[in-house]
Amino acid sequence: MNYVSFGTADVKVSEMCLGTMMFGERCDQKRSSEIMRAALDGGVNFFDTASAYCRGRTEEIVGRGIKEYRDQIFLASKVAGVDAKRIAESIDESLTRLGTDYLDLYQIHWPRKGMRVGEMMEALDKVVQSGKARFVGCSNYPAWVLERSNGYARLHGLARMVSHQLSYNLLERGVEVEVLPMAKTENIAVMVYRPIAMGILAGKYIPGQPIPEDSRARTDERIVKWLDSYGEGVLRLKAFAEDRGVSMFDVSVGWVRSSPAVTCPIIGVSSLSQLEKSFKTFDFTLSSDERAEVSSFFDTEVKEVSGGNYGPLRRNLDLVAE
Ligand SMILES: NC(=O)c1ccc[n+]([C@@H]2O[C@H](COP(=O)([O-])OP(=O)(O)OC[C@H]3O[C@@H](n4cnc5c(N)ncnc54)[C@H](OP(=O)(O)O)[C@@H]3O)[C@@H](O)[C@H]2O)c1
Repeated sequence: MNYVSFGTADVKVSEMCLGTMMFGERCDQKRSSEIMRAALDGGVNFFDTASAYCRGRTEEIVGRGIKEYRDQIFLASKVAGVDAKRIAESIDESLTRLGTDYLDLYQIHWPRKGMRVGEMMEALDKVVQSGKARFVGCSNYPAWVLERSNGYARLHGLARMVSHQLSYNLLERGVEVEVLPMAKTENIAVMVYRPIAMGILAGKYIPGQPIPEDSRARTDERIVKWLDSYGEGVLRLKAFAEDRGVSMFDVSVGWVRSSPAVTCPIIGVSSLSQLEKSFKTFDFTLSSDERAEVSSFFDTEVKEVSGGNYGPLRRNLDLVAE
């Protein structure tokens, strides 16, 4: 396992972050505990969860699973809400469910309409000052809202957000516009969720073949919709991987990791065998030519009509030197 610096936080975490969203949903306590233990044994020391997953049950499952080795894990959770009251209440609820007295990373799950960034940053700072979380971060933020939030924190001497959790994969590329350039420039750690598009980009579903009984497509309609739209690209990705003797999973996660703005992919698994396959993916790298070739299988880069160089500028990871 590789270990990477986590933005401006003075810590190193495993490059693989274990996603726990399926715990309580597709994995019971026993299987979830086995996956977490095996992840730790494989060198993974970074786990991500959220208060919203299974209405808190996932946090309980994670808490029971890591009880014996809590201090070896960089533990991240999320609050569903942006106001001071929810932030203050939710951290205590999460700590109780997780059976711990601190989180390593506490993230705002989604921004909300009409949010007050000053109130939010003051509340997050209180969480840090009270020792309930070591660092704070966000998820699913437009670039300018994160910049504004950290601008407020900087001005008032409060804890700043050190990380941004985003969906980024060969099908979902919106964050290439301004979000990833902002994160790289500001040294915000980028945690990528859904790196294999819920299994589509790892060969869980083969276009034209029946949907497997034991799969998330039975409950998540986006999977069938995306398969219909991108089936041809999935088959080209499969052929590309086969030609190189690697898995589709390796190519898709390698594509995410090859962005210089990305800190770590969050790998969500629902079985031990999926977990084991994910360890070796961190030895695989894609060259920039291969990245461009794989990107061409899917017509998913955000398109815009713009005069001059404005489009490329909004995607440039090195536009501002410091
Ligand atoms: N911040 C947010 O808003 C947000 C949103 C979503 C997720 N997340 C985080 O990101 C994590 C990952 O998200 P995700 O689970 O949606 O994304 P994902 O990693 O793209 O998909 C994981 C799914 O892919 C399948 N899979 C895993 N390994 C495989 C392999 N080797 N071969 C074939 N299929 C494989 C499994 O599906 P089956 O279970 O069907 O086998 C697994 O549940 C979550 O656990 C959570 O921590 C955050």
